[in-house]
Amino acid sequence: MKTIFSGIQPSGTITLGNYIGALKQFVELQEEFNCYFCIVDQHAITVPQDRLQLRKNIKSLAALYLAVGIDPNKVTLFIQSEVPAHAQAGWMLQCVSYIGELERMTQFKDKSSGKEAVSAGLLTYPPLMAADILLYGTDLVPVGEDQKQHLELTRDLAERFNKKYNDIFTIPEISIPKVGARIMSLQDPSKKMSKSDPNSKAFISLLDDAKTIEKKIKSSVTDSDGIVKYDKEKKPGISNLLSIYSILGGISISDIEEKYVGKGYGDFKADLANVVIEALTPIQEKYHALVDSEELDNILDMGAEKANATATKMLKKMENAMGLGRKR
Ligand code: TYM
Repeated sequence: MKTIFSGIQPSGTITLGNYIGALKQFVELQEEFNCYFCIVDQHAITVPQDRLQLRKNIKSLAALYLAVGIDPNKVTLFIQSEVPAHAQAGWMLQCVSYIGELERMTQFKDKSSGKEAVSAGLLTYPPLMAADILLYGTDLVPVGEDQKQHLELTRDLAERFNKKYNDIFTIPEISIPKVGARIMSLQDPSKKMSKSDPNSKAFISLLDDAKTIEKKIKSSVTDSDGIVKYDKEKKPGISNLLSIYSILGGISISDIEEKYVGKGYGDFKADLANVVIEALTPIQEKYHALVDSEELDNILDMGAEKANATATKMLKKMENAMGLGRKR
């Protein structure tokens, strides 16, 4: 059985972008693959976090993984910091990374540009991400489009390590959804929807209530020609809303376009709000039943134990390959 690894940062409540670009795929993939899904809290501290809020976000993200349909009996769901091999392997992979290639990462450039105090962790984040993936002998990594460059670097690092030390890593493939790989901000459709956007109107969080969802969709930025038609270049706002409608409503984009011929954006947006609310309501119900439960802690304990067992074996191979410690 092939292995999948993917992670999400607990840096805020996850958005419709995270759901459509990543989580929704995870639910389908868990049937056919040996899956490791991770709450990557060590990635989240590359930018400042409030400690109590971070703790809350970690549990909240774990509950959301389950609420969207991840089955803990089929997958290994765990918290990155509870498996120390990630940080240890991350350090080793930092030592095979070049500063130049890390500085070229667009996410690093975006997050550091114009900032005075940029943490070293923000620069060395990609080798930690590579460690997450490579520790599990991962064959396939399902992610949204924004992670493509990090995945390419992961492949480069794995190949470099295999050549220089010992051929121990599987070179992972990347899996990006055909539709919805990049859900855009509702306020600026040239930017991706992000859970850390300072303007909360720019994203829909999976825990937003019906009224908030309606308001955010109603106030989303579109063009003024009033025609519901997919055209990513000329009508990025409407095209983004069409993608969301199509994926969550299970209707093709051309069928939606046909449905709204002669109707304005008002009707389209009102119906889209209902589609989103209908998709999120059952997730939210399950979430609230789980988030403070003992069951959730038990699932995370079990996940950490399983992940530790696998990751420690690969860590040992890495240490042996590099000559660290004593051979045992
Ligand atoms: P993060 O937490 O930013 O996002 C989690 C997942 O959601 C996808 N995503 C999107 N997809 C479509 N439209 C959007 N607007 C959108 N925003 C986010 C991301 O592509 C991602 O799949 N570095 C990663 C976390 C990570 C990881 C890993 C992923 C750490 N280690 C190992 C895979 C494998 C990140 O910051 O994702």
